[in-house]
Amino acid sequence: MPCDPSKLRLYYNEFPQPPPKRVLDAARKSVSRANRYPPSELAELLKELMAKYAGVSAENVHAASGGEYVFYELFSRAVRPGDLVFLLEPTFSSYEPILRALGCTIEKVPLIEKGDMWSLELDSLIDMIRRKKPKLLVVDDPNNPTGSPVLRTRENVGRLLSSFDGYLLLDEAYTEYAGYSSASLVSEVKNLVVFRTMSKAFAMAGMRVSFLLAPSGLIKNVEGFSPRFELSRASMAAAVEALRDPSYALKNAEYVILERERLYGKLLRLNGVKPYKSSTNFIMMKFLRGMPKLPLTLMIPQFAPGFARLSIGTRGDDDCAVRALADALVQDHAYKASPVKGESE
Ligand SMILES: Cc1ncc(COP(=O)(O)O)c(C=O)c1O
Repeated sequence: MPCDPSKLRLYYNEFPQPPPKRVLDAARKSVSRANRYPPSELAELLKELMAKYAGVSAENVHAASGGEYVFYELFSRAVRPGDLVFLLEPTFSSYEPILRALGCTIEKVPLIEKGDMWSLELDSLIDMIRRKKPKLLVVDDPNNPTGSPVLRTRENVGRLLSSFDGYLLLDEAYTEYAGYSSASLVSEVKNLVVFRTMSKAFAMAGMRVSFLLAPSGLIKNVEGFSPRFELSRASMAAAVEALRDPSYALKNAEYVILERERLYGKLLRLNGVKPYKSSTNFIMMKFLRGMPKLPLTLMIPQFAPGFARLSIGTRGDDDCAVRALADALVQDHAYKASPVKGESE
């Protein structure tokens, strides 16, 4: 099969295929009523279906547009200028600029590279939290860009929550790929907020539908200030149809998990590349002798020199990406000089 790496789009962690026809048809049909504002019954139905999918009550759900806007909505209710916020390092790059714009003080909690994963020292984080009492802690679980699980269990989430009075925002954007969630805890505690998106396993990144799960008081607070018509009629209609039968998202996740393991095996065989195990739809890797020249739509550099992230695409996309990577490594001076797999990697 012809392979043109400049045509690949493996840098945004999208799903490589569109959602099922019934979802697209629902969006198309709703457009014929484009002259009308979205009806409140549609918004209510969407919340109910999101709640059912996440295993909580509708009063614990705020249906919203993309993550960055929702984070802004939440942070502007949960923190004030000067408040201390803990972020993981490295983590998803969207939280920090919003928190800085809101005047928060940010402290980074380093993740530690251990073998083929990046992990959190939970006991030392709890110790830091007890001493410094942050107003908000954001945990992206599994984490972007490392791909590693962070807290994983409800027990670990519960331990963190009981160690402080601030909010824990648990970003579960990749939950379907990871196979774990602590969302159901939101109705049991007062300081947990969970973020979910339909951009990943639901294959709807272009529709911009995400949701927050939180105690009902906080949901009311956020909704008191969120725009009345935050989501378009077409986005809501597509999301409702998708959630009526979410089994396709779980099938998408099954595909990604299998393909991720296949791609991981291929990356392992490349000289000078260390891929990390992933619980998401992307794989982070370290180029042991610096990053070779590659199209930016294939992979973008991450938080530190030599680190990059590759999304899982179709099998054809992924094979093409690996071929492009192998070619770039062969052409790169640093790799030409010492192309031996296994040497102090
Ligand atoms: C950890 C994490 N949270 C949130 C998002 C954004 O999701 P959305 O498409 O709903 O804005 C992403 C997107 O890549 C992400 O990686």
